[in-house]
Amino acid sequence: MGEFVTVTAGDGGVGTIRLDRAPVNALNPQVWSELGDAARQCAQDDAIAAVVLWGGPKVFAAGADIKAMQGMSFQQFFAAGSGLQEAFKALAAIPKVTIAAVNGYALGGGCELALTADFRYAAQNAKLGQPEILLGTIPGAGGTQRLTRLVGIQKAKEIVYSGAFYSAEESLAMGLVDKVFPTEEVYERAVEAAAHYAQGPFALRMAKKAIDEGYEMDLDSALRLETTLFAATFATDDRRIGMDSFVEQGPGKATFTRN
Ligand code: CAA
Repeated sequence: MGEFVTVTAGDGGVGTIRLDRAPVNALNPQVWSELGDAARQCAQDDAIAAVVLWGGPKVFAAGADIKAMQGMSFQQFFAAGSGLQEAFKALAAIPKVTIAAVNGYALGGGCELALTADFRYAAQNAKLGQPEILLGTIPGAGGTQRLTRLVGIQKAKEIVYSGAFYSAEESLAMGLVDKVFPTEEVYERAVEAAAHYAQGPFALRMAKKAIDEGYEMDLDSALRLETTLFAATFATDDRRIGMDSFVEQGPGKATFTRN
């Protein structure tokens, strides 16, 4: 259990990674480290089958802690800066479905934190953006890479070059978020969706691996990875359960064991 980041395993196999560092959940090196620990815990805990990433009802995260970075030299940041990237890589690599529930600001490293999840559900009051350029720097935790892969190179350039904040609806239109909900409902809706995925088969892990890892490869290699993982599903109980259930009862009725 970290000071600023906690993991709770709720009903239905849904784990919540909760970021809580008032007033704006600024990400200092301790938070980076705790986020990495939380990611590893969620990856390993069998009681957690899907994950919601949440910054609480007011703000998701206003980015890296500018006050902590203000006086840092190149040498100091070079030594420390990779910790943030490593933590976010650990979050992106959680082999379970992850959903970021975004209330309020998700800016800079906060937006990049949301980008580590499979899906982003935004509250109507959400504001997303990469304002690093206004600080004389650039996004350093995926904002030039995960963002570009998600929204495309032109939109990513607009977001990063301008430093502008985007409303939930604008973010939805450009594919930066997947769904928009009334502000007070967004966490609950994310938990509901996560609970649905938590009932899914072991193959969800393989689907995530095939899509995320395959996306970084040339097509031929990615197709080979897909074939291997497709075949690997035949080593799972859930593949047998799914096909038996279809043959005996028709589509969509299987109860999976996540094995
Ligand atoms: N780091 C440290 N402190 C921050 C912060 C941040 N990223 N964002 C806000 N704060 C602090 C403010 O300094 C202020 O502190 P005090 O009360 O001590 O003055 C407090 O949080 C509340 O902020 P505001 O008074 O500014 O509140 P607001 O409602 O008027 O505005 C905001 C909120 C829009 C989030 C605004 O504070 C803001 O623009 N924050 C900076 C966002 C930003 O530039 N993020 C990128 C950071 S760099 C980065 O993330 C690099 C990377 O890629 C990893």
